[in-house]
Amino acid sequence: MIRARITGTGSYVPEKVLTNFDLEKIIDTSDEWIRTRTGIRERHVAADHENTSDLATNAAKRALEMAGVNADEIDQIIVGTITGDYPWPATACVVQANLGAVNASAFDVSAACSGFLFALSCAVDRIEAGHSKKALVIGAEILTRIMNWEDRNTCMLFGDAAGAVVIEAREGENGILSTHLYTDGTQLELLYQPGFGTKLLPSAELLESKAHTLHMQGNEVFKVAVRSMAEVAKIALKENSMSVEDIDLFIPHQANIRILHATAKRIGLKDDQVFINVDRYGNTSGATIPLAMDEANRAGLIKEGDILLLDAFGGGFTWAAALLRW
Ligand code: COA
Repeated sequence: MIRARITGTGSYVPEKVLTNFDLEKIIDTSDEWIRTRTGIRERHVAADHENTSDLATNAAKRALEMAGVNADEIDQIIVGTITGDYPWPATACVVQANLGAVNASAFDVSAACSGFLFALSCAVDRIEAGHSKKALVIGAEILTRIMNWEDRNTCMLFGDAAGAVVIEAREGENGILSTHLYTDGTQLELLYQPGFGTKLLPSAELLESKAHTLHMQGNEVFKVAVRSMAEVAKIALKENSMSVEDIDLFIPHQANIRILHATAKRIGLKDDQVFINVDRYGNTSGATIPLAMDEANRAGLIKEGDILLLDAFGGGFTWAAALLRW
């Protein structure tokens, strides 16, 4: 059987760090409040000259290097992002040009914090169908550019980063075993960016009202996130006839430490099965899972044959899981 196997991981975070103590100077908050409610200590912020495609390109280069694959061998590039360089064309097109990946089709997936897993699922399907041999799947965001820096409920949560994986068609038992995607569009206004799509075109009034920034009802999102991430994780295990003890590493979307703990508890995971780095990066939306996977991989926490469960939730609402044997 042909499976899609991860052969390289890479990530990139901008140099500038914004700590909770820095935020204390901008909004009415405290390091203690942010740490206890979210687990976040600091987040990275892109420099003015950096675009989402630059973060994505840097992460992709590192993944290609680890995989030992040249850019011109890649036949598809999919970027999960909600903060692309342009409304269109896709940020993946910029990445394709930056890398010189002349043989790759390239497009973006907009599924908010589930964007990387939705993108991964598309790439895996094309590999399993025999339409692709080597793909780059990337999650990349500059969320700090769509923050309302006067809203203490949201601006302390998010950061900028990119993560990437190279996946290749390989015979055998190792690789991505299944992906599971879900959506509920009925509650999208609990977590969204109202402007400036075609519904709300830019105007001075809308800019003044911060319609172009992220809007969120944190309490409501919290509850749905925990329930959805736990449910999809259980579905992934059941469909592969596995139990929670089979998981060597659970890599969830890094939204908030309390969401991660509550989700892990509902699934029945032990602390040492869960990878956490939200304290250093905050919520980087589509980038959290590939960034975490790359950190875990480079730290030697993942061995050949390990079972990994990836799990995400985001605006839309969208939620997703992927189960894989490394
Ligand atoms: N510093 C200090 N106080 C803050 C604050 C901050 N950064 N942010 C909010 N508060 C205040 C609120 O204004 C509120 O004060 P009020 O009662 O006077 O209005 C108080 O803290 C409690 O707010 P509440 O909403 O009950 O806090 P909470 O425990 O739910 O934590 C979140 C708020 C945003 C941290 C939490 O709801 C959350 O993490 N939600 C999920 C968000 C998320 O992860 N979204 C992305 C999913 S992909």
